[in-house]
Amino acid sequence: MNIKTITSTPYNDQKPGTSGLRKKVAIFKKPHYLANFVQSVFDSLDNCHGKSLVLGGDGRYYNRDALQIIIKIAIANGFKELIIGQGGLLSTPAVSHLIRLNKAYGGLVLSASHNPGGETEDFGIKYNIDNGGPAPEKLTDAIFNRSLEITNYKLAEIETIDLDTQAQFKIEDVNIRIVDSVTDYAQLMTNLFDFELIKHAINSGTITLCFDAMHAITGPYAKRIFEQMLGASEGSVINGIPLEDFGGGHPDPNLVHAKELATLMFNDGAPVFAAASDGDGDRNMILGDNIFVTPSDSLAIMAANAQHIPAYADGISGVARSMPTSQAVDRVAKAYNLPCFETPTGWKFFGNLLDSDKITLCGEESFGSSSNHVREKDGLWAVLFWLNLIAKRKQSVMEIVHEHWKEFGRDIYSRHDYEAVDSEIANKIFDHLRELLPTLSDKIFGDYVVSYADEFSYKDPVDQSISEQQGIRIGFENGSRIVFRLSGTGTVGATLRIYLEKFSKDSNAHQQEPQQALADLIDLAEQFCEIKQRTGRTEATVIT
Ligand code: G1P
Ligand code: ZN
Repeated sequence: MNIKTITSTPYNDQKPGTSGLRKKVAIFKKPHYLANFVQSVFDSLDNCHGKSLVLGGDGRYYNRDALQIIIKIAIANGFKELIIGQGGLLSTPAVSHLIRLNKAYGGLVLSASHNPGGETEDFGIKYNIDNGGPAPEKLTDAIFNRSLEITNYKLAEIETIDLDTQAQFKIEDVNIRIVDSVTDYAQLMTNLFDFELIKHAINSGTITLCFDAMHAITGPYAKRIFEQMLGASEGSVINGIPLEDFGGGHPDPNLVHAKELATLMFNDGAPVFAAASDGDGDRNMILGDNIFVTPSDSLAIMAANAQHIPAYADGISGVARSMPTSQAVDRVAKAYNLPCFETPTGWKFFGNLLDSDKITLCGEESFGSSSNHVREKDGLWAVLFWLNLIAKRKQSVMEIVHEHWKEFGRDIYSRHDYEAVDSEIANKIFDHLRELLPTLSDKIFGDYVVSYADEFSYKDPVDQSISEQQGIRIGFENGSRIVFRLSGTGTVGATLRIYLEKFSKDSNAHQQEPQQALADLIDLAEQFCEIKQRTGRTEATVIT
């Protein structure tokens, strides 16, 4: 096989964000752009020779073309085995599982997660290491540094590979496996959950369900698992065919973007349970008849109920949440005497904690949760956890949530996003907030007395690495919090995220509508960051 060395010039914008490199498709299509990045990844690894690599993506526009390029570069760099999802499709948690199952060296996930897809929309690429999880910061920094100085990449001169047929074949001494995207992942799920119990609850009509795959990657997974394996009626999975542009939608499972599902669940005739997942299948949204479960509550409820699930019945070692996620899970950890960790935003920060068994469950407010079964967040895992829980406790979602609030209190929670803000204005807002922090200590704002105001930095308890500037937190003596962060996944301007949280032990307050309950904190957040004043905007782009 002939290996060519292609000369190229570096780009200066290939810094991976919260979750890999995300850009508009047009940028990825610039000459050598993708190839430079992939070669930078391989150059930053110890040695790719003779190793195995997992490849797959969420099926968005450019997935197939990108894969063909990556395959050629991977072979040229000495990988001896490529494990590729059929059709080029693999959900992010499935990639994580396949890396672990096959003891692969790593994997490349092609996805921009919940960002829209299509020729004029977003594409993304992320490297996962041998534990199945996203590359740690040390590696993403090395990749970025390499991308700034790269002058060429290697390309194997081979024919285009047929991705659509399951097969195992060799290109000279390189083993290529085109594997079913679902089978191994579905098998893993049967090891964790009580499929017989769930199946019985579905067959007997105790559980009726609707799953919205949002025309993204989880369609085939959900159809196999919910309809074929668990016996949910055909049509329980909606928008189940993955499309390159996700049907023009925004594949983000929240009340704004999964409106069809939200409407179904807040009207007469709603099924017992509904859920949705995102572009690459790592996020989840959980709904019951007339109730939406915030991701922060979902994590806390899972932690409090882990004993009901076969995989966790013997106990969990600890829990973790990203810093902006509500403190609901902390209350469970305290009551159960479990270690509880607060990490920066992004799944990569859970990797060391999971590897060293300091935690079993973890999650983020951004509709992500998972356990030690993989090293990514896992949308369908969360859905199966809830189905198993409902079947076991024989209660509705609403009953489970309300009982939880009664026992632990409720962390009323919301996130307000201001998208595509001028980057300069966004930076000024953060400069302003940083100046404000030292002036806030002990200050009183109506019912709120500031107990701390700082910029979050994290020392990894396993490798002692330090990550700074991970969001600004203002905490109050009554347990309420306001957090400000800039998104690390957006592709247009800056996205300011404001996270708002208010604790209430009083069960009468538990029926409150979050935006009303949080109104005074929302005003206070504006007083601190002045986003409306500085941008002239009157409201957030998305409220979750
Ligand atoms: C967002 C979420 C974060 C999540 C990431 C990848 O990142 O906030 O929790 O890990 O997407 O799904 P952000 O855009 O806030 O940097
Ligand atoms: Zn995702």
